[in-house]
Amino acid sequence: MPLLLFGALTVSPPSAEAQNKYMGAATCASSNCHGSVGPRTATNVLQNEYTTWYRHGAHSQAYNVLSNADSKKIAGLLGIKNAASADLCLKCHSTYVPNKARRGRKYRLRDGVGCESCHGAAEKYLRPHTAKNSTHAGNVKLGLIDLVSLKKRAEICLECHQGNDNQAMNHRLIGAGHPRLTYELDTYGILQPNHWEVDKDYVKRKAPYNSGRAWLVGQVTRASEMVANIRSKKRGRFGAMPELSLFYCYNCHHSLKEDQWKKRSYQGRPGVLRLNRSSLLMVAQGLKPLDAALASQYEAKVSALESAYASGNADSALAELKTMLDGAVSSLVNTASFKKSVVTQMMKEVATFTIAFPSPPYEIAEQSAMAFSALSATVDPSGAKYQKRIDAIYDGLKDEEGFDPKAYIAAVRALKGNL
Ligand code: HEC
Ligand code: HEC
Ligand code: HEC
Ligand code: HEC
Repeated sequence: MPLLLFGALTVSPPSAEAQNKYMGAATCASSNCHGSVGPRTATNVLQNEYTTWYRHGAHSQAYNVLSNADSKKIAGLLGIKNAASADLCLKCHSTYVPNKARRGRKYRLRDGVGCESCHGAAEKYLRPHTAKNSTHAGNVKLGLIDLVSLKKRAEICLECHQGNDNQAMNHRLIGAGHPRLTYELDTYGILQPNHWEVDKDYVKRKAPYNSGRAWLVGQVTRASEMVANIRSKKRGRFGAMPELSLFYCYNCHHSLKEDQWKKRSYQGRPGVLRLNRSSLLMVAQGLKPLDAALASQYEAKVSALESAYASGNADSALAELKTMLDGAVSSLVNTASFKKSVVTQMMKEVATFTIAFPSPPYEIAEQSAMAFSALSATVDPSGAKYQKRIDAIYDGLKDEEGFDPKAYIAAVRALKGNL
């Protein structure tokens, strides 16, 4: 059957598609499907995706975590009876489908963050996607989420790894003991660990993958959603106070002993809270080698945000920044060439930017380390040139409370010397 016709006959309108059932990870787990113990070669995909997800990844344990001692303590402090049945926790720690009519026979909450959290409700694509002549585009029409789109991929991850109006992460949750959230598209994809291989047939069926582009699209998406969170009436404030998780944590959580203040520069503004601009500023470094004029226009908007925020009315600065991120910046990063020379230049920009801080905030240091690993995967895939230096940079991040900015800068300087 010609594909178009097949598509046209079976595609349901978006409203109906949004009603597709979640079939449960067990549906994908047969050893002939995605539950092979080792990778296989008979089909285009590895077929051991379920095994990788279940045995090696945190996502399959995300629901179980809600019954451990830490979760009990967190829930207790927040006045929640049982984390494992609380909406608040389940939204991010499971494939959460409150509407029981949309749960397939094998749907289980205990699957945690299951296949369908990322790939979409499988009811309509489950059967067709195994057919010999099925295509990625055809499957997408049946409700498979297009994770080949880096923007879409980042959006899906960020629902849980940054939070939004529907799935909120805030300072109350963090204060009760929840880990601070951070995210970088390429690094987190590998840490999952990834269960797909970008080989020749993948590129032919789907698209090539460039870790430099992935990094920048991830940063643009995270920055854009960060701006949306600041703007949100639900998320931006806590009563009369701003929402504290939107700021650099160690603006407040640093020791007042040991003459801490003598060591820091405070960038000319001591005693002032600063928005967590880690991804907003990384975007600027990524833009410089691609389009210097756009990069400086963009940097001006980021600076304008900081002053506008301090003066109490940031609405229009936030709106302008969001328009630019979602418009000119997004279209550039989707179409630009990320060849090795350009990506190496991005590494240099990130390094120069980081060492220009007398003492970079921890969140900036963390994002620059992840930038180096993502970008170097494109320019130095074997790791022979830069890996040792990057490992030393990561070593400097191990102790958040005792983070030593000077030592960190020295490690970045050493990498920069090699670039
Ligand atoms: C906005 C999404 C979100 C919400 C809401 C959320 N979590 Fe999490 N949680 C995460 C993510 C993402 C991680 C992993 C963070 C990382 O390691 O980068 C995590 C990690 C954790 C961990 C640490 C897990 C480990 O393996 O050490 C615990 C414990 C936890 N969450 C408990 C809870 C509880 C209890 C609730 C509800 C009160 C909750 N979470 C609500 C997203 C969320
Ligand atoms: C945390 C998100 C996430 C979860 C959970 C997840 N995947 Fe994936 N998966 C991805 C991403 C991202 C890709 C890469 C983009 C793509 O090829 O579609 C991918 C790719 C794949 C591929 C494509 C490989 C190829 O060569 O085309 C298969 C098959 C797959 N996943 C199966 C599964 C199965 C089965 C599960 C559950 C056991 C699962 N995934 C759980 C995010 C996820
Ligand atoms: C439905 C919510 C959800 C989505 C969507 C999601 N995650 Fe997660 N992720 C979690 C939770 C919750 C944890 C912590 C689970 C645990 O510790 O057992 C986690 C843990 C992780 C970890 C381990 C972190 C660590 O510190 O070890 C990585 C890496 C990760 N996720 C990557 C991704 C990527 C990449 C995507 C998008 C392709 C993604 N996640 C999408 C909820 C989600
Ligand atoms: C505007 C200042 C401010 C910012 C910014 C801020 N916090 Fe807090 N934090 C506080 C205050 C105030 C408390 C309550 C202390 C108390 O109860 O004694 C607190 C409590 C906490 C606690 C509970 C344990 C403790 O130290 O008392 C944790 C954990 C925490 N914050 C983590 C974070 C993280 C992570 C971030 C960044 C995402 C952050 N905070 C951002 C001011 C801040």
